[in-house]
Amino acid sequence: MAAFLAELEFALKPIKIGVLGLGTVGSGTVNVLKRNAAEIARRAGREIIITRASAKDLTKQRLCDTQGIVLTTDPLDVINDPEIDIVLELIGGAGVVKDMVLTAIANGKHVVTANKSLIALHGNEIFAKASEKGVIVAFEAAVAGGIPIIKAIREGLSGNQIQWLAGIINGTGNFILTEMRDKGRNFDDVLAEAQALGYAEADPTFDVEGIDAAHKLTILASIAFGIPLQFDKVYTEGITQITRTDVEYAEQLGYRIKHLGIARQTSEGIELRVHPTLIPERRLIANVNGVMNAVLVKGDAVGATLYYGAGAGAEPTASAVVADVIDIVRALTSDPENRVPHLAFQADSLADIPLLSSDRFNTAYYLRLNAEDKPGVLADVTRIMAAHNISIEAIIQKEPSKGETAVPIIMLTQITLEQEMNAAIADIEALQTVTGKINRIRMETLG
Ligand code: HSE
Repeated sequence: MAAFLAELEFALKPIKIGVLGLGTVGSGTVNVLKRNAAEIARRAGREIIITRASAKDLTKQRLCDTQGIVLTTDPLDVINDPEIDIVLELIGGAGVVKDMVLTAIANGKHVVTANKSLIALHGNEIFAKASEKGVIVAFEAAVAGGIPIIKAIREGLSGNQIQWLAGIINGTGNFILTEMRDKGRNFDDVLAEAQALGYAEADPTFDVEGIDAAHKLTILASIAFGIPLQFDKVYTEGITQITRTDVEYAEQLGYRIKHLGIARQTSEGIELRVHPTLIPERRLIANVNGVMNAVLVKGDAVGATLYYGAGAGAEPTASAVVADVIDIVRALTSDPENRVPHLAFQADSLADIPLLSSDRFNTAYYLRLNAEDKPGVLADVTRIMAAHNISIEAIIQKEPSKGETAVPIIMLTQITLEQEMNAAIADIEALQTVTGKINRIRMETLG
């Protein structure tokens, strides 16, 4: 009887949440948890309430209603509060925040985080500590904002061998490329707008140099292939070198340029790469515009599957945070051994599969070079390509720009080893008749 009553009391007791950070995502999460409280309680089987929150500056105007929440500037007041069951880490960054999360775990608290750099850089250690303590660290919001891509790969596709995945996983970058293509706007203008809308990272070079996408790809690859998190092995290239000229030529050839994170399992190992990519405009993912994200996942049983939604912003990200909170509440009474593993595969079954260096990548290419307009130039270029075993798919010569004598030549190649392409580019750039550097963009059919 006493045990039954204790269980009943546990079932009726509200779950108490502490929030670290009341910025864009923190405020969005408070709003969603409050607005949908009744619906959330019906799903979780328990009332979920926010009791404490920390923010750097308490005088700042908030975008959420903090009534009923005890505010503090010290995150430790939240982390060390014995009443709190789940800590939401919504500060971001991988420095001091790592210690906060480890302290929360040591205090026996479950953690929900939207922090991709924290998970990509320190996830192996954090999950090991969480497993020792029997607590959950949930991170759905860390990848692709509101799209439940972690749950889809970790649970929905768990019967498959994942062959590859490719995603538009940085909303700011996609917003910039879309505005450049559709409206001819310049890079800096669009970036400033993305910052004002709260999409961009605190350091926006993380968005435009591909670091944010590399963090997210690290996480996706780990749960797709059952490998430890290895951010330092991701080949990363940003969008700052993309010009309107290339966007227009790509379009004339039936392609769009998208900034993709690609993870592919090959017989030699795994390719992990983030770079601008030409993709056929007829693919659904080529038509994902603005701040929207999309991830294409190919499993051996299911085939290709596509997940689409808002990749950044207050409430889309809050949607993922709150879903994690509900998952944790539902799992509270389960045996920690029988919960969904943090990285989809049992921790002692993660595989040591080699991650390939970029010269071992296999991909097709778009090349743009400037050459003299005289007999034999194209013959020289194609001879070099043949010598490196590179098959040309298409080649076109454009009109020279006003006042220029050199003509732009655009080439599309078939799939080739990157090492061969690097050597071919060096040989072509060394020709007397070719001026300047060759602009190269990788190309994928995603078929
Ligand atoms: N800066 C990120 C983006 C936010 O633009 O996608 C969401 O992770």
